[in-house]
Amino acid sequence: MTAAITYRLIKQDKHTGARLGEITTPHGTFKTPMFMPVGTLASVKTMAPEELKDMGAGIILSNTYHLWLRPGEEIVKEAGGLHKFMNWDRGVLTDSGGFQVFSLADSRNITEEGVTFKNHLNGAKMFLSPEKALQIENDLGADIIMSLDECPPFFESYDYVKKSVARTTRWAARGLEAHAHPDTQGLFGIVQGAGFEDLRTQSAKDLVSLDFPGYSIGGLSVGESKAEMNRVLDFTTPLLPENKPRYLMGVGSPDALIDGVIRGIDMFDCVLPTRIARNGTVMTSQGRLVVKNAKYAKDFTPLDPNCDCYACRNYTRAYIRHLIKADEIFGIHLTSYHNLYFLLHLMQQVQQAIMDDDLLAFRQDFFETYGFNKE
Ligand code: GUN
Ligand code: ZN
Repeated sequence: MTAAITYRLIKQDKHTGARLGEITTPHGTFKTPMFMPVGTLASVKTMAPEELKDMGAGIILSNTYHLWLRPGEEIVKEAGGLHKFMNWDRGVLTDSGGFQVFSLADSRNITEEGVTFKNHLNGAKMFLSPEKALQIENDLGADIIMSLDECPPFFESYDYVKKSVARTTRWAARGLEAHAHPDTQGLFGIVQGAGFEDLRTQSAKDLVSLDFPGYSIGGLSVGESKAEMNRVLDFTTPLLPENKPRYLMGVGSPDALIDGVIRGIDMFDCVLPTRIARNGTVMTSQGRLVVKNAKYAKDFTPLDPNCDCYACRNYTRAYIRHLIKADEIFGIHLTSYHNLYFLLHLMQQVQQAIMDDDLLAFRQDFFETYGFNKE
């Protein structure tokens, strides 16, 4: 059996845990560290696939929970899978639905078997198990798929997290069993354990012994401080195998990306760039900028003078502010375009800095101009 996902280490940074690598999926190869734009409902909001390709996106993320509810995985399967359905021929990763059930659905009840909940669209009672998640993910057909997990609150009690992590590991083993297409879809196990070092360690060790083609780190960026997140990464990533990809789930602020890379993370995803874009906020080399603000009404400079994206080459802050204020949807297209470009370009610069043995200096420069802790 050929592996669906392979990781090739190109260069290990001498000074930090960072690594330059390459992930090959059935839909192409991309360099890591990589940021994955989020297309929850099989669309990266406001963005055409061609535009994502132009800016160098090698893989995007979509969601099992949302596509299960709407339009239903059977329709996506009938369309020929997610890639065909949405006209995207590069990598796709689907999250398992666990996180969304815990963040969106009502009246959840977790048992060993799975989780019962009322969906957020019409309140209908539904049941998601590790096997059901795999069936949906197999039907959706993404290149990289996630085990069903529970993401407990970061400050949940030790006793609860201990039980939850053990169950998440048993769910991961059941997912592996149920997986129908291991030769074309790589299933990742998700390390949990909140802020407890011994629980994270146990989780990582147990998942590694199950031998997944890649590992995710979940349960972070859920309200804890950046220092807490970095502390967890410091002891978690070294437990993961060198020859497999490591994916930090739900993290997308520029400073957290750089600090994650330094701790050995290869893949990230987050709704942040597209979500704040729809609010009229952009990430720039000088920090965040709320272009919707009145002070940009007569500012005829680009969103970021140091950016060469389509939005920055062609449009001004004044124009984009006007569009957003007037609810002209082209405005949020331009801010979305710029923010995604900004993070993809940041990761390209990080890859180059690893190649040049220059990552710590790059981090220092970036933090000085972007502003430490402004995110
Ligand atoms: N997205 C962000 N965090 C998580 C997590 O802990 N689990 C899953 N499945 N998805 C996530
Ligand atoms: Zn730009």
